[in-house]
Amino acid sequence: MDYKNPKFIIDSSQLTPGKVRWRSPSNIALIKYWGKYGQQLPRNPSISLTLSQAATDTTLSYSAKQSDKEIDLDFYFAGESRPDFSLRVEKYLKILLPIFPFLGQLHLRIDTNNSFPHSAGIASSASAMSAIALILCSMEKRFFDSLSDSETFYQKASYLARLGSGSACRSVYPHVAVWGEAGEIPRASNLYAIPYADQVHDIFETYHDDILIISKAEKSVSSGAGHNLMEGNLYADNRYLQARQRMDNLTAAMRAGDLETFGKITEAEALTLHALMMTSNPPYLLMEPNSIAAIRKVQAYRAETGHPLYFTLDAGPNLHLLYPDNIATEVKTFIRSELTPLCQDGIYIADRCGAGPEELEADLNPN
Ligand code: PMV
Repeated sequence: MDYKNPKFIIDSSQLTPGKVRWRSPSNIALIKYWGKYGQQLPRNPSISLTLSQAATDTTLSYSAKQSDKEIDLDFYFAGESRPDFSLRVEKYLKILLPIFPFLGQLHLRIDTNNSFPHSAGIASSASAMSAIALILCSMEKRFFDSLSDSETFYQKASYLARLGSGSACRSVYPHVAVWGEAGEIPRASNLYAIPYADQVHDIFETYHDDILIISKAEKSVSSGAGHNLMEGNLYADNRYLQARQRMDNLTAAMRAGDLETFGKITEAEALTLHALMMTSNPPYLLMEPNSIAAIRKVQAYRAETGHPLYFTLDAGPNLHLLYPDNIATEVKTFIRSELTPLCQDGIYIADRCGAGPEELEADLNPN
């Protein structure tokens, strides 16, 4: 598959300035993508739940370019200029120039906001990069009248999002997405994610993911550096094998609505991800004492009540608590009384499985 297209050039003299706005959610991986090769290609398949509350709202305003910079970009995050984010987006847009040469013809202004507190220690690259990818596909559609078929549109958006941040490619689909070649899923690809909600039990459509903010501190090792460390990890090959097997078992459990098997595999994956960090060279540790205290409380609660409350972890200390909607009242009482004391400033974000990204009316944006 090659999206390079030298014909995607616009007639700048005819260009009317415009705006495109998308809100795109974050996602939480159940089988983790950890280890990559080539241009952001995964070493193993992954599957995720698309979230609802944790999302990025991005508006891109374009007009004819007036400078001779390769990418002419003004970038604002929560109304303020952020040179670090701006540089990352500029690098990303440069990579996309062979696919969308028109990006080199425009002045671009990006205004982006996260729905969750910026300092909450939640990774936002999946929502941020998928929002930009979706915007670019909408621009292609507007300028060249292409991508009218929604499957083609989202597949391309997922492919482009992947180039910005691997996990971002899974954010473009509602509820559940799969990324990476997986034996039992013939359509799965390393190049883009595919929608997977229609292959799993309905119970996941309303699944909860409450995020315990154990620490707001920025990660000491970025996920990019973490992926690279997998190249020298002694356990890497076995890990990739294990991820494939777990993928088969987890998808079977999700199809059947078997929450116990689902939860056991999900927790094992979270701990494996962190074990891989601890066995990297150099080794590192992203969990905090309160991450472990919370894990023990969740496991004890499960043993006492029999409720299918399970956790997963991202590449950080914060716990994601996964549970079905029918036990939400009891679980929330437990979280408030037992778990929020372990959170920094007592913060947790009540999120749940969501319907995927949404194109919004650009002019309603306060920016
Ligand atoms: O998309 P990246 O490069 O930030 O990697 C994300 C890796 C994990 O969040 C730890 C796992 C995953 O599959 O999302």
